[in-house]
Amino acid sequence: VRARVLSGKELATTIRAETSAQAAELTKLGSPPKLAIVLATAEASAAWYVRSLAAAAEKVNVSCDIVDLGPDAAPADICETLANLCSDDTTHGVILQTPLPAGAKPADLASAIAPEKDVDGANPLSLGRLAAGLPAFAPATAEAVLALLCHHNVELTGRHVAVVGRSTVVGKPAAHLLLNKNATVTVCHSRTKDLAAITSTADVVVAAVGRAGLITAEHVRPGSVVVDVGTNPTDDGRLVGDVDAASVAEKAGALTPVPGGVGPVTTALLLQHAVQAAAH
Ligand SMILES: NC(=O)c1ccc[n+]([C@@H]2O[C@H](COP(=O)([O-])OP(=O)(O)OC[C@H]3O[C@@H](n4cnc5c(N)ncnc54)[C@H](OP(=O)(O)O)[C@@H]3O)[C@@H](O)[C@H]2O)c1
Repeated sequence: VRARVLSGKELATTIRAETSAQAAELTKLGSPPKLAIVLATAEASAAWYVRSLAAAAEKVNVSCDIVDLGPDAAPADICETLANLCSDDTTHGVILQTPLPAGAKPADLASAIAPEKDVDGANPLSLGRLAAGLPAFAPATAEAVLALLCHHNVELTGRHVAVVGRSTVVGKPAAHLLLNKNATVTVCHSRTKDLAAITSTADVVVAAVGRAGLITAEHVRPGSVVVDVGTNPTDDGRLVGDVDAASVAEKAGALTPVPGGVGPVTTALLLQHAVQAAAH
């Protein structure tokens, strides 16, 4: 028996269609949604990601400004840029792309993004509100995990979910969103002893680590649901997840693919957040 493939493509298409229609409506009413992405790195993959996000935005009637401050930007200048964008009434969503210049503290800089425009949930206030069960934009990747599970009718109430990874962009917010859905959540990380002993008792495993093939068949319970958040580039130019899909698919009940799982839903939700911000 091979695991069911929990694709994100269909859900992403649905979210994009709704977002596009709502953005067109807002434009008609004189408030065209606009996203701004602040970039301060020479890393080619970040620049590529930002350009592809901008292209995806334009496709759903969201205009997108890329503000490239260069890899030597001073933290104070990045903060000032973010603050200026937040006080600009025509800009509704503000994203600070990582990586940041050496010495810049992500949480300090992201604190300059007003929560109502913090469409990728980067401001620590957004994570705090999420933890408190209050309305806030969640980091799109963490929300995509939940959206994908919901779309594929995976029950979460009372189920044991093991989240592998505790970053502020994926693991921690995903854990809070899962708690808000009444799952019983265990968060694992690099200091966790005997990872397989924990994950193999879980009904759902969420892998958000950044290590190709870390999660193997020994880490999963027969019939469980596995969400692969990892995106790891290979030497031959492919993208693979944190899950060793070949072995896990023989044991798990369902598995999200990489690419085509969490990734497209993340992008769609980010744009949906920008339109939601514009609607307020
Ligand atoms: N699909 C998408 O849209 C999307 C978006 C964002 C990120 N991602 C991908 O998701 C992955 C995680 O991203 P991230 O930003 O959360 O990464 P990160 O900030 O590097 O965090 C990685 C987490 O994994 C833990 N970890 C490392 N080695 C481990 C091990 N051997 N066993 C258990 N846990 C281990 C780390 O533990 P410690 O805390 O102890 O160091 C840390 O909490 C990456 O592949 C990234 O590319 C995908």
